[in-house]
Amino acid sequence: MSTPGRRDVLRGLAAAGLGAAAGVAGGWAVAEAQPAALPALPETEPGSRRVEPHGAHQAGIARPATPQPHGVMVVLDLAGVRFPADVRAVCAALGLAITALTRPEDGSAGDAARAELPDGPGDLTVTVGLGPRLVGLVDPSLPGGEELPRFASDEGLRADRVGGDLLLVAYSSDPNDADRAIRWLTGGIADAAVRWSQRLFRGPSRGTVTRNPLGFHDGIIVPHGDRELDEHVWIADGPLAGGTICVVRRLRLDTGRFRAEPEARQEAIVGRRRHDGAPLSGGGPDDEADLLAKTPDGQFVLPARSHVRAAHPSFTGSALMLRRGYAFDDGVLDDDSGRRDAGLMFTSFQRELRTFVQTQHRLDETDDLMAFAIPTASATFLILPGFAPDQPLGATLCAGAPTRQRDGAISPP
Ligand code: HEM
Repeated sequence: MSTPGRRDVLRGLAAAGLGAAAGVAGGWAVAEAQPAALPALPETEPGSRRVEPHGAHQAGIARPATPQPHGVMVVLDLAGVRFPADVRAVCAALGLAITALTRPEDGSAGDAARAELPDGPGDLTVTVGLGPRLVGLVDPSLPGGEELPRFASDEGLRADRVGGDLLLVAYSSDPNDADRAIRWLTGGIADAAVRWSQRLFRGPSRGTVTRNPLGFHDGIIVPHGDRELDEHVWIADGPLAGGTICVVRRLRLDTGRFRAEPEARQEAIVGRRRHDGAPLSGGGPDDEADLLAKTPDGQFVLPARSHVRAAHPSFTGSALMLRRGYAFDDGVLDDDSGRRDAGLMFTSFQRELRTFVQTQHRLDETDDLMAFAIPTASATFLILPGFAPDQPLGATLCAGAPTRQRDGAISPP
């Protein structure tokens, strides 16, 4: 069987214009007295602000600091990518294509990109991640070469919704821009097969914090600022310094059943107040939960099986993860249950995969929130370090490790 060459892998991107690079009351029970207004989250920043695609880290993770309200995520299989040179070629071509989309004035391939986004890129970001198979082609011992384990909660997960070779995520204030960007990029990769894709959205945000589909503030306890991001999120050294490990879990949530619980029970399940996000153990909305606080009769104030207690890094001995979740909603399920295929696209970034793995094992054991979530897709990806005009995306991937070439020979770095 002939092996698709690097040229074939790039064929599509070239074709895409990248040149050489490749009152009706019914049964409603409406209370007469309106409850006190919830504290408003300030509006998300308007989308006219350009987000720099180049730098030490890819955009779409910690930049912009307030995530854009819309996104499209796609997971692809690249059966034609079989050698380290193919991996490098796809990454480099994607970097050029992303530059063309987000800095059209810079790129030689600007025309095709401009045709996709005629009003300019707005605050579009595109983030690229490599699945364990592609990382393993270069060197399985690199960060990102390890697959996610199957978790106790993954029982019903379909095999075609697990893993994948390539992650592309576009975020934007304009949902059409994110969609067009993903379609254009995907269409430019030869032999790319879509494993799954998902449109995403989130409500008004205060920095990383927004209300999730269960109606609770989410994204409070995450690394903030450069120092914490360096400590918990970015890979510190080696050829992938500046990259990070991403975990994506599409979690269908039974929001109907959760919301039917009394508010006090909802708060006990989460461990924070629904109204303003403050921990049940006391303090303000941005404060950490006090795991040791007790009632006068000796009970933990923060319930033993609350999500915040279960997920707390002090139990797993691991670092903080940067959670950057979005909602999804694909409408009513086709199974006569009347339930929706809707929920949370849990997305986290951490220096090491074990941060997520240890936390998820613990959630499966001791977290009442998990009874409301069904995983419907699961994957991990190496988010490549950032890139720049003189530093192609993925350029450092093969540096520092011997690589297997197309003819099977091992060549030194
Ligand atoms: C069922 C879907 C989930 C929902 C609705 C959810 C919601 C929340 C909420 C409302 C908070 C409190 C506010 C905050 O600190 O952001 C929180 C905290 C947290 N969640 Fe989740 N979460 C979900 C799944 C997960 C998963 C799968 C993980 C990781 C395996 C996770 C890890 C965390 C961590 C580490 C915290 C911070 C705990 C702390 O130190 O206070 N969550 N989550």
